[in-house]
Amino acid sequence: MRRIAVMNQKGGVGKTTSSVNLAAALAQQGRKVCLVDLDPQAHGSLHLGVETHSDEPSVYDVFSGSRKLREVRHLVGENLWVIPASLDLAATEVELVDAPNREIVLRQAMQEMLKEQPLDYIIMDCPPSLGVLTVNALTAADEVFIPLQPHFFALQGLSKLLETTALITRRLNRNLKVSGIMLCLFETGTRLAADVTDDLLSFLRQSPQDTPWANATVFNSRIRRNIKLAEAPSFGQSIFQYQPKSAGAMDYGALATEVIAMEKAVVGHDSDISQTFPMPAAKPAPPASDQQRFAA
Ligand SMILES: Nc1ncnc2c1ncn2[C@@H]1O[C@H](COP(=O)(O)OP(=O)(O)OP(=O)(O)O)[C@@H](O)[C@H]1O
Ligand SMILES: [Mg+2]
Repeated sequence: MRRIAVMNQKGGVGKTTSSVNLAAALAQQGRKVCLVDLDPQAHGSLHLGVETHSDEPSVYDVFSGSRKLREVRHLVGENLWVIPASLDLAATEVELVDAPNREIVLRQAMQEMLKEQPLDYIIMDCPPSLGVLTVNALTAADEVFIPLQPHFFALQGLSKLLETTALITRRLNRNLKVSGIMLCLFETGTRLAADVTDDLLSFLRQSPQDTPWANATVFNSRIRRNIKLAEAPSFGQSIFQYQPKSAGAMDYGALATEVIAMEKAVVGHDSDISQTFPMPAAKPAPPASDQQRFAA
């Protein structure tokens, strides 16, 4: 069982497209998968044809304590479930501010659901921010996948992102690892994409072994820019339903094969959540060394 948070605080880098289509590809390859939409924009839910209005149950009700995850999930295809978001989820950031254990609400709810319904994958689509919803995803996850659009500023943002992961690892979830980096909206054949990919690989090679990203894989499957991927959400379909022969379907299918191939190497965990510690209010700035390395 793998719990994967798809995260990048930068907007529009392919988090939702990757969460949805990777989830659908894994389901197509025989895994039991649940996508948890943690973005109030609810694009992931809509992408798989689930529209929630404010009077319908969503993951918001799980955060507010009025429902269980199993009560809000939808079966959207063979082996594929969605826990939808709704606009109400925007209020969760504010409502949970003073709640005790606010960082582990999702993790506890997930453990309860998994007792009744074993799954192979839970994929969490995070919002483009590092607020309480993303912290909940990182606390509930074993792994982080980072979608990255290869340009220079993407690497600068990555430094902050990796530090956030390290902070969560220290405070809330010692088992959390950045295990995969997905290159999205990839412009094949461009010098910039190749250069940024090289810089990324050399940064990872130089990272100390005790960082949560030390053994991260940059997936060989590059997700090329493909218009069919951008069209599919408006039909409420994954790329495999919408255009199964497109480049987008090929790329996400290949990515899922790589993700499945990692399974043996990934050690699952069920650590005791009582061993977690409250998060400090302020987040420290990324260390200068990372910034310098990326700026080099
Ligand atoms: N490989 C691709 N080819 C073409 N269009 C893409 C591709 N990946 C994503 N898109 C499009 O780019 C836009 C942003 O993608 P997406 O919504 O997946 O990013 P995001 O990181 O989830 O954004 P946000 O931060 O707003 O949640 C969307 O319109 C999506 O359809
Ligand atoms: Mg998104």
